[in-house]
Amino acid sequence: MRIVSIVGARPQFIKCAPLSRLIRKKHEEILVHTGQHYDIGMSDVFFEELDIPKPDYNLGVGSDSHGAQTGKMLIEIEKILLRDKPDLVLVYGDTNSTLAGSLAASKLHIKTAHVEAGLRSFDREMPEEINRVLTDNVSDLLFCPTETAVLNLKKEGITKGVYNVGDVMLDSLKYNIKIAEQKATILKELNLNSKEYIVATVHRASNADSFENLSSIIKAFCHAGVPIVFTVHPRTEKYLKQYGLWDKLREKVKVIPPLGYLEMLKLMAHAKKILTDSGGVQKEAYMLGVPCITMRENTEWVETIEDGGNVLVGADYEKIMDAILNFEGGKAKGNVFGNGDACVKILEILMTAI
Ligand code: UD1
Ligand code: UDP
Repeated sequence: MRIVSIVGARPQFIKCAPLSRLIRKKHEEILVHTGQHYDIGMSDVFFEELDIPKPDYNLGVGSDSHGAQTGKMLIEIEKILLRDKPDLVLVYGDTNSTLAGSLAASKLHIKTAHVEAGLRSFDREMPEEINRVLTDNVSDLLFCPTETAVLNLKKEGITKGVYNVGDVMLDSLKYNIKIAEQKATILKELNLNSKEYIVATVHRASNADSFENLSSIIKAFCHAGVPIVFTVHPRTEKYLKQYGLWDKLREKVKVIPPLGYLEMLKLMAHAKKILTDSGGVQKEAYMLGVPCITMRENTEWVETIEDGGNVLVGADYEKIMDAILNFEGGKAKGNVFGNGDACVKILEILMTAI
């Protein structure tokens, strides 16, 4: 079986690592990196530490407007698919790289599999929601991480080729958590004691690009009264500087560049709480049993809220402060993200489907 896997952004490297490892035991994988993320700390570091093979193609599309970025990817991916004639194309998550990959493949009538299918925030203001809906509609195999995702697809009339396999991010976390505990040095480097600090990430366009939302979030970080370690996404760094918030933030908060996955896992595992607007980080907080405060109005990961481990506070200063002080999380009721064997299940299904 010849599979073309398409990745491009940080979370996709983390998602593809365990499945790629499994695929390559018996099958041919051609790895395409669109180049959506290109900084060393947003891309190369993950290939190195997760042992992801060097991409066969790097399209080098870089940053641009949605249409231009997706369009450039589409043109180049189509050429690769015509040249390499795979049996299947694998796409992950909900970025512009996901949409370009699924669109190019489906138009060429190549079987397309979507890992992390069926997620919905029901918020079309999010570019990711458009990418999810479109990708799910053109995919032949839809690998859902949760039962909610299966039901979301059912409500849209998508039932063929749908499987709940669990979440590949749990596979990744299970494989790497012990390695992270042994290898990562971040707590020592930042002089942090376990469970005495909060980890923060912010990069959603609705927060990073908005002066109002970003300043409200930063104000809360500065007044938290607990040490905050903020790993800053390049998008957010750009706007923090543009809005004149950067220097004030750095006076009060430990601001650090994006971390590699192993350092990030260790930092999250030992945190008292996590403040985020990331999809992946919400799940990882839940998997690690760390209370998560989500700075969004909605989430695709509704199970984490229902279980009491996650709370939505938007970008509201008062709500963020209240959660920093009072939200203690809950006890996870079950394995909503599966058992950490999503990749095995996906490969079994792929082998029968092709
Ligand atoms: C993208 C995804 C988002 C995902 C996130 C993961 C889309 C529409 N968005 O958002 O779903 O959650 O990745 O992190 O696909 N930049 C750099 N260096 C880099 C990458 C980005 O400086 O290596 C800066 C550029 O200024 C760029 C901005 O970040 O314009 C945004 O990058 P982009 O890939 O368009 O979107 P993300 O916010 O990273
Ligand atoms: N992550 C990381 N280093 C960081 C911040 C996040 O390795 O400094 C990891 C995080 O552990 C998770 C993934 O990146 O596995 C989430 O990616 P991101 O928040 O960029 O995107 P999203 O999940 O929202 O699409």
